Amino acid sequence: MNLTASIAGITFPTCIMNAAGARCVTAEELEAIGNSRTGAIVTKSMTRDARDGNPSPRYVAFPHGSINSMGLPNLGHQAYVDLIPRLKEFNKPVIASVAGFSPDEFVDIATAIDAVKPDLMEINLSCPNIEGHPQIAYDFDAAEQLLTRIRKVVNRPMGTKLPPYFDPVHHDHMASILEQCRVDFISVINSIGNGLVIDPETDAVVIKPKGGFGGLGGAIIKPVALANVRAFALRFQGRIPIIGVGGIETGQDIYEHLLAGASAVQIGTAFVEEGTQMFARLEQELTTVLESKGLQSSTEAVGRLKEL
Ligand code: SIN
Repeated sequence: MNLTASIAGITFPTCIMNAAGARCVTAEELEAIGNSRTGAIVTKSMTRDARDGNPSPRYVAFPHGSINSMGLPNLGHQAYVDLIPRLKEFNKPVIASVAGFSPDEFVDIATAIDAVKPDLMEINLSCPNIEGHPQIAYDFDAAEQLLTRIRKVVNRPMGTKLPPYFDPVHHDHMASILEQCRVDFISVINSIGNGLVIDPETDAVVIKPKGGFGGLGGAIIKPVALANVRAFALRFQGRIPIIGVGGIETGQDIYEHLLAGASAVQIGTAFVEEGTQMFARLEQELTTVLESKGLQSSTEAVGRLKEL
């Protein structure tokens, strides 16, 4: 079965990779990903300076989902500048995820990272977990200005990670901004921001930061993720490739993301729960699903969703 994917001219050995989230912060974690069956190595979203992130508990899994407010713990961008050349030796694409607390910070990090030539750069406009810093992609003017500035300094293929949108008007608006800004790919969706989970035993919230509010992930968010992949795929008509993220636990989940229009997928919660062996399992399961549909490659499934 051919599970390769092509995004912005870069070939991925399989269409299955980790999401910029947990287990991709340190050199050891990133090398473990490199040694696995993943189709790419995606770094944690980096900021200018190293961060410990938010206070714990800051990630909790519950039946069919997870809530997190990690707060962008990362090594600081210079550590990833040093690490990326080593990660490229694994001979699979390296995607550098870039965050920041101001437009200048984003631009400075993107400039430094571009110089060490990751295969792709993913600009994170959708972290919901930093108090006082709203998700940039919900402010359409700010997102457009920021992407315009970053595009000027980035020569590598550059994409952006988006939060979920819940109204077609917002999909229209963001899609036109992304085309205008010459974005090479998008990753949708980040966690659904500012959910709240309550422990029935203790009557308390389950994570400490932000009074318990955090990003929802895992199986419960799959319908929202699929809707966003589909909404952007219909608008882009193949001009901007999509990496589907959200709610993937099985090969069938990946197949549904492909049907909706994703060329590849990223996995967060299931990767946190299962570790690097997850990639081989999902590869096997996706192969079984595609075979049962009479397909010879994952690419053949992309965008084939039927309407009634
Ligand atoms: C976090 O570190 O808080 C999660 C990152 C994200 O949602 O972008």
